[in-house]
Amino acid sequence: MCGIVGILSHEPVAQRLVDGLKRLEYRGYDSAGIAVINDNKIRRCRSQGKIVNLDARLAQEKIDGVIGIAHTRWATHGMPTEENAHPHMTEEVAIVHNGIIENYKVLRDDLIEKGFSFYSQTDSEVIAQLLTFFEKESTSHLEAIFKTLDKLEGAYALGIMFKADPTRLYGMRKGSPLAIGHGEKGEMFLGSDALALAGLAENLTYLEDGDLAVLTRDNIEIFDKDHKKAIRPSQRYTAGFEAISKAPYDHFMLKEIYEQPDVVRQTLNTYLSADKKSLSFPKLTFDPDSISKLTIVACGTSYYAGLVAKYWIEQIARISVDVDIASEFRYRQPPMPKEGVALFISQSGETADTMAAHEYAVSERQQTLGIINVPNSSLARAVHTPLMTYAGPEIGVASTKAFSTQLCVLAAFALHLAHERGLVSSEKLEQHCHDLASLPNALEQVLGLAASCKDIAEDLSKAQDILYIGRGTSYAIALEGALKLKEISYIHAEGCAAGELKHGPIALVDENVPVIVVAPSDALFEKLASNVQEAAARKGQVVFISDKKGQQAYHGDALARLTVPDTTVFTAPFIYTVPVQLLAYYTAVHKGTDVDQPRNLAKSVTVE
Ligand code: M6R
Repeated sequence: MCGIVGILSHEPVAQRLVDGLKRLEYRGYDSAGIAVINDNKIRRCRSQGKIVNLDARLAQEKIDGVIGIAHTRWATHGMPTEENAHPHMTEEVAIVHNGIIENYKVLRDDLIEKGFSFYSQTDSEVIAQLLTFFEKESTSHLEAIFKTLDKLEGAYALGIMFKADPTRLYGMRKGSPLAIGHGEKGEMFLGSDALALAGLAENLTYLEDGDLAVLTRDNIEIFDKDHKKAIRPSQRYTAGFEAISKAPYDHFMLKEIYEQPDVVRQTLNTYLSADKKSLSFPKLTFDPDSISKLTIVACGTSYYAGLVAKYWIEQIARISVDVDIASEFRYRQPPMPKEGVALFISQSGETADTMAAHEYAVSERQQTLGIINVPNSSLARAVHTPLMTYAGPEIGVASTKAFSTQLCVLAAFALHLAHERGLVSSEKLEQHCHDLASLPNALEQVLGLAASCKDIAEDLSKAQDILYIGRGTSYAIALEGALKLKEISYIHAEGCAAGELKHGPIALVDENVPVIVVAPSDALFEKLASNVQEAAARKGQVVFISDKKGQQAYHGDALARLTVPDTTVFTAPFIYTVPVQLLAYYTAVHKGTDVDQPRNLAKSVTVE
């Protein structure tokens, strides 16, 4: 959510700042801007909308300098206009900010009383004004920054440069991530994530919460939250540019859907033994036999992965599981079991609500696990046991391949718990591992439904409301399908437990409402089929997703049918996810919406 790039060099930096922003655009795309210091002046160029607009503006304004900061914004305070775009500045200082300053109103009113003027509706501008105020009454820029930070409540990653000293760039973080890139030719970089710095620097230092870094061209000085000098390790990051190209697909989302067989294979390679007959699960910091309850916390698609896992873990490992939405969890202050275990799922590893929920769980003395896709992300570094997924960078705002890899880790985790608790025999475990290992091939097959999904999507794109229904783990996939559709096509969609239809949602059904049915032929199939008949009897336009056996068993009307490969009950969620992803994708394409960067959203949600 918002992206930061900063460069301190001896060569002009404007173009590289913009290139860095392009790599970060997935974090926010409401507006963008850069500021550089040149001829003893801070010069700024900003524009509303995507970075192509900024590029065009820069072609006319041609500002440049050897030090600069840049930002791509996801609006929180104030409309996505040019005035509200970062960098924010005064004559003396320019800043870029990710996060939210919660007490900005009080600080702003106070500064206005002191004679300061504001030019935006943002919370961030107050930081530039405060720095200007404190610069006058401090003996150094560092002192002015510390005084400013003392006043701020909320979360931030910041990049700061002062007109009076174009040899220093300052970066700091509290609650929002920030990394430093060590250049090789007397250059230093700031970036809100490793992607921002791809191609600029291979050696990265991640700041810890509360750190402030002072960058010169050949040195970094870091101060911790107590203002004491600190040393942070640096590590190599070598992901190249090819990781972020969508070629030959039209959209990142489609590319990422098609990557699922590969990334599922890669993730399973880590959690299954080499012969794929047993698990290779990392050592846990708790005894699976002694846990009475597991708490899973996440947001959005990651939450739905957790919901699938609830069914798996309760059924196979016989551990009761609470799945919570992270934004509700912390403030509900749920009692947590003594020596309990909490699992956090996050593709980005930076979701503010999930991080805050983790903090709460730690304060409740829970052992924490995290299922995370981005190495070195805040959550990956915070949990006791990180369980990484190997989806590679996911750029499309709609999460697809990350979800499938989360399911891989969760499936292995459920089996591991069950096996450790003596609830699944080695033979049965071998069978499950074999089924998991067959998934990449089955996923290749189910991708063959793309053309049919594209046809069906033409009808879906004309609908105003769409219902998704399922039972058991397919209920979670129905929810995920509905989320995917609404976020990229802007069509209202609801996921329902099929048995709940008759308790309310069926009132929505008429001949204009498609009902997407996630219907593996499992023990709940007959019950689900009856629920579908109830919807069809009200003229609901049924899209029936099932295997061969299920298709033969369903005799009701259907607008369309999608026949997926046979699965086991355990692996069904992996396979049924793909058609709901493809239906959402092609519906958005038919509607002509911005698939990879849907309106009002951002990839990484680092504000509460
Ligand atoms: O990075 P996270 O997994 O923590 O993100 C959680 C949600 O913001 C994310 O899954 C969101 O719902 C996706 N855009 C859904 O496609």
